[in-house]
Amino acid sequence: MSTHAPALKDRFGRSIEYLRISVTDRCNFRCVYCMPEQGLAWLPKQDILSYEEITEVVRQLAPLGLRRLRITGGEPTIRPDLLRLIAMLRAVDGIEDIALSTNGVKLPAMASDLKRAGLDRVNISSDSLITERIAKIARRDLGFDPVLAVQAALDAGLEPVKLNVVVMRGINDDEVVEFARLTQQHAVHVRFIELMPVGEMAHLTDEHIVPSDEVLTRVATLGALSPAEGPARGNGPAKYHRLEGAPGTIGVITPMTHTYCGDCNRVRLTADGRLRTCLYGDHEVDLRSPLRAGSELGPLFVKALSEKPEAHDLVRLKVGGLRALSEVGG
Ligand code: 5AD
Ligand code: SF4
Repeated sequence: MSTHAPALKDRFGRSIEYLRISVTDRCNFRCVYCMPEQGLAWLPKQDILSYEEITEVVRQLAPLGLRRLRITGGEPTIRPDLLRLIAMLRAVDGIEDIALSTNGVKLPAMASDLKRAGLDRVNISSDSLITERIAKIARRDLGFDPVLAVQAALDAGLEPVKLNVVVMRGINDDEVVEFARLTQQHAVHVRFIELMPVGEMAHLTDEHIVPSDEVLTRVATLGALSPAEGPARGNGPAKYHRLEGAPGTIGVITPMTHTYCGDCNRVRLTADGRLRTCLYGDHEVDLRSPLRAGSELGPLFVKALSEKPEAHDLVRLKVGGLRALSEVGG
């Protein structure tokens, strides 16, 4: 039977039960808002946690109330033998839910194996429904069709399936209604994300951000939109709505126009083993050295939570400071 330790609370009373695990900083895409065209300075292999080390971190934190995991990147599906990690994490006592964030390119080939290995569900990122346009935004032409990826995930039972769309004015905002229509056709949860400023690409946010309120106004041209419960599992910062009669829902994630830090339930583990308590800023605690030295991680986790910032400052300052999400695990 699973142990159900009560989740640890940080000093603002937030229960921390959710760990996002980046398994690689590399990616087969180069999305314009995430990475420079030439890529980033990738981590050397020896700095990256092995699957055994990642599993050990989870095994040590689970008794402190960790219940849900998300595997992220970079692009997690390009790390060799990912199925092995999923099976190892699945076997850790106390872990109730394992999700994967992916650009979806490999889903048609991998979805059923991922499910068999023990994965519960996926979030797919795609900023367009038009293959040529995706190639432009991601600066790689992999002939990707997000609808096939969604279908593969649904067929494999990796539900609820969420589809994340970063909305950019003049780049893909003309597709908001088409994306919303998908929720009328499939049991998919489309989430529109406000563009955040990252590193040298921070100016894109000023030029292209579309506030989520505007996105919802456009979606409402399709029909009556009512507030909805989110998908059954994995409620994070999104606020959900449903078009009348639609099997799927529409969520908005508003890092730029509204904070939701008060409900933050997560911390992040970078591919090189640093625990980050907030997406924004640089608060982090190295777990790799103590792990490799055979030390207990629990006390470090408790200390890291005691230092978790109350909120990020994107709303107030509207300026950069984010490291590439591929480096910090989205
Ligand atoms: N703004 C908003 N979302 C971003 N992502 C990456 N960089 C940004 C950014 N600057 C999102 C991707 C994907 C996940 C990996 O993080 O769209 O959903
Ligand atoms: Fe890769 Fe995701 Fe970054 Fe795009 S946003 S380059 S898919 S890590």
